[in-house]
Amino acid sequence: MNNENSLDKALRYLQQQQGLFGDVLYKGLESEKKLHYTETPQDSVHVNTQLINGVKADWQQSASLVDLQSGICGCTQCPLAQTRTKFVFGVGNPNADILVIGEAPGADEDAQGEPFVGRAGQLLTKILQAIQFEREHVFIANILKCRPPGNRTPIPSEVEQCEPFLHKQIQLIKPKFILAVGLTAANTLLKSKYKMADIRGKIFDYQGVKMLVTYHPAALLRNPEWKKFTWEDVQLLRRLYDEELAKK
Ligand code: URA
Ligand code: URA
Repeated sequence: MNNENSLDKALRYLQQQQGLFGDVLYKGLESEKKLHYTETPQDSVHVNTQLINGVKADWQQSASLVDLQSGICGCTQCPLAQTRTKFVFGVGNPNADILVIGEAPGADEDAQGEPFVGRAGQLLTKILQAIQFEREHVFIANILKCRPPGNRTPIPSEVEQCEPFLHKQIQLIKPKFILAVGLTAANTLLKSKYKMADIRGKIFDYQGVKMLVTYHPAALLRNPEWKKFTWEDVQLLRRLYDEELAKK
């Protein structure tokens, strides 16, 4: 405590105030805390802050996820910008070993600006916990950052515009594994038309990262009898992850 510096003191004070007043005063802080970034503003390398369709011209040079998020969150490259409430960048550990990739935000995600927070998201959280991962340990993102109206399937032009953002996220996070949830997400990423039975339990390569596929949690809510397959799939992921750890 003696060597607590003034920044620590200020932070502790703010945290106390946040505890007392919560959402009334600290909505913004809370959502940033969820990302628990440790990066500092020095990581920002935006020199050219010119916006092209709401995206910073040099977003590809982003040196951190915070930097990337600030570079792309105003995107208006595709028509989904007009109907979205919030741009859903992704959430979690910026150094995650596991990146979960879904399809696109739904209504809850669009409202809250965070992926997988609705009913399906709550099931995803439980699935991760079943293999001893918390949401905060992994990173969770979607192929599309904006909600397609009525939750329709992403169309190729939207994927084409948005997927480079995901590629950049992968470059910055450097995950060891990707878990693609849902056949739409998997086939979109793999540019293919597989059936789930053909691809679960196998290891693919996406942008140089080992990728596994399982059912979308929303599909599991509709078809609880498929949960046993997802259980097998995530156990495999856990095994591969443990093997990878053992190599270190
Ligand atoms: N632990 C981590 O630190 N990251 C992951 O992605 C999973 C477990
Ligand atoms: N479904 C998805 O694919 N992603 C979300 O973020 C929520 C629901």
